[in-house]
Amino acid sequence: MPIIDLEKCNRCLKCVKDCPASAITIETGEIANTCIHCGHCVAICPEMAVRPDFGNIFLLQPHAVTPKDFRNLASGIRSCRSYLQKDVPDAVMMQLIDNMKHYPSASNARPLQISIVRSKEKVKLLNDLTAETLIRKFSLLCSPWISPFIRIFVPSVNINTIKRYKALFIERKKVNDSQICHHAPAVLLFHGKVSKTGMAEADANIWATYTSIYANTLGLGTCFNGYIVKAMGNNSKLNQQFKVPANHRIYASLLVGYPKVKYRNEASRQSPIVVLL
Ligand SMILES: Cc1cc2nc3c(=O)[nH]c(=O)nc-3n(C[C@H](O)[C@H](O)[C@H](O)COP(=O)(O)O)c2cc1C
Repeated sequence: MPIIDLEKCNRCLKCVKDCPASAITIETGEIANTCIHCGHCVAICPEMAVRPDFGNIFLLQPHAVTPKDFRNLASGIRSCRSYLQKDVPDAVMMQLIDNMKHYPSASNARPLQISIVRSKEKVKLLNDLTAETLIRKFSLLCSPWISPFIRIFVPSVNINTIKRYKALFIERKKVNDSQICHHAPAVLLFHGKVSKTGMAEADANIWATYTSIYANTLGLGTCFNGYIVKAMGNNSKLNQQFKVPANHRIYASLLVGYPKVKYRNEASRQSPIVVLL
């Protein structure tokens, strides 16, 4: 729990009003166990009277990211599927990981762990297991015993599309030994306990998104990888090879490395449809 130093506290009540869990009784300095450890009380206190339960207090640094800067940054971040064969130094990798403490998490539960796959052999293994698992899944769905049931009970699944995917994956497997991981020097796996009630999947996609943006500022390229998520997901037998605990599920995956290609122009894409109410 954070600790309130009542000697330093000037009773401005900023922490009380800003606490999302209404957990602070300033008269006694108590913090109820409904506290979600978000650190708003630490961040808002003008007297630095609230000691965090983890780490020290640092003043926020001013930043100079203008809306135009962010727009330009966002438009320049593209999925990278072509990487230099240059390792991402451990220190840079740890920079990416360390910054995750700043990213949002539902109820501030922070349920995620990260596996960093960064040896050539392990990335290849991840690539091959993913491709093989997907081909097996596609074959099962297209089989004459299963596909009629899918057509009836899950009409949104297009069996012909799955057949095309299966053929494409098999074809690519013959000519491309890294059709999933694109020879990325590192792959981040965002995993957490399997839970029906938590929001680990949302957290994972948010953390991966922020990581992708931060990585870009460090000169790195990234690519989300839904194939790995779909294939490995909760397959504990496969996941154990990547130090993913048996009761965890992979919720997001991000390829990371130094990009081989540079883009000159913006993507010409439509903005989403907007409904004004
Ligand atoms: C959730 C998610 C999953 C994705 N999975 C894959 C993937 O498995 N393989 C891949 O090559 N790209 C994947 N992508 C990248 C998209 O194809 C890409 O974002 C999209 O085509 C737009 O291109 P851009 O990112 O270069 O702007 C994924 C993107 C998202 C957001």
